[in-house]
Amino acid sequence: MTPVRTDGWPAWPPPPTAEQRERLLRVLDGGQWGATQGTETETFAAAFADSVGAAHGVCTVNGTVGLFLALRALGVRPGDEVVVPAYTFVASATAVVLAGAAPVVADVTDTLHLDPAEVDRLAGPRTRAVMPVHLAGAPADTEALREVAARRGLAVVEDAAQAHGASRHGRPAGTLGDAACFSFQSSKAMTAGEGGVVVTGERRVYERLWSLHNVGRTLGGGWYDHPELGWNLRMTEFQSAVLHPQLPLLDAQIDHREARAATLARALEPVEGLEPVPDPPGTTRHTRHLMMLRYDGAAFGGRPKADFVAAMAAEGVPLDAGYRSLSREPSLTPYAVRTGPCPVAEAAEESVVWVRQPMLMADDRAMGQIAEAARVVGERFRR
Ligand SMILES: Cc1ncc(COP(=O)(O)O)c(C=O)c1O
Repeated sequence: MTPVRTDGWPAWPPPPTAEQRERLLRVLDGGQWGATQGTETETFAAAFADSVGAAHGVCTVNGTVGLFLALRALGVRPGDEVVVPAYTFVASATAVVLAGAAPVVADVTDTLHLDPAEVDRLAGPRTRAVMPVHLAGAPADTEALREVAARRGLAVVEDAAQAHGASRHGRPAGTLGDAACFSFQSSKAMTAGEGGVVVTGERRVYERLWSLHNVGRTLGGGWYDHPELGWNLRMTEFQSAVLHPQLPLLDAQIDHREARAATLARALEPVEGLEPVPDPPGTTRHTRHLMMLRYDGAAFGGRPKADFVAAMAAEGVPLDAGYRSLSREPSLTPYAVRTGPCPVAEAAEESVVWVRQPMLMADDRAMGQIAEAARVVGERFRR
């Protein structure tokens, strides 16, 4: 049988632009490849921070390390606790462990973002920070989370690894907490293969971030002066040369994905048992890093999600099965001090599938084919 879709899907990242090639070669030929030698990384960090309305930015080796730096810069220490959502990439929690602290795993709301009520319930005397994850490209409910954080004296670190260009009530991701981390890993909306940036509105936090990622040096201080403990966690000039020209392209790419996501949502309306996970109320810019769909096996002949994902792949539609709830993540169990009941995240583990960003870079016809594949698979499963 011919699959519903026989064409491939757009590659990610898109082909390099002339400006990327030129900038990359300029760095290569210039011989100043490290961030302490050239100016590409400093310039890019400032431009990125500016693009999200944050005063300062520090580039680092990846998003995980960015979260680690933000937690340390905001005063998280060994023995402290940080509340993280149960439905996220494991790095949100492993960054907490890297900082010597213990993750507290809290359930999510129906949008699959961190539930502020659960944060309030689970935070204890050792809790120092909370990490809203802007899952799929939509900011978490940071007003409610900041209210809880303010009342309990917690720092707010945004995990914006998936949310370059997102906003909530018109305020950009990156300005919704005390510091925010974006990833430039290869699947992300802006990428250099690897990399990350931490942004903040506060000079004091910036100076700490800068020092921690630069071997404990101080801005304007000597090369061998290390007033505090730090590490070499700098990003290279090559990465910045590849990243900087992506900044002006981001908006149009988000527009494209938003339009495709709307087409797909419409095309799925008649398909019983497969519907978009709702966006957090207050989302003003969703970057559609992922479009998350809820699969209801009851409408598909009682077949589990794994069967659906395999059948869709056979139809030329490679969906992603998504995360395991962190409440069930074996590698985390020895480190997570508390895990609240996580029925919503655990149900998502069983029922949520993702359409990834590169697929949303395709055309409207492709969105129709995703829905058609789901219809065909449903018919087959119910027979
Ligand atoms: C939600 C989330 N947090 C953190 C990370 C970690 O970023 P990185 O892979 O750049 O370390 C990622 C992506 O990989 C992510 O999706």
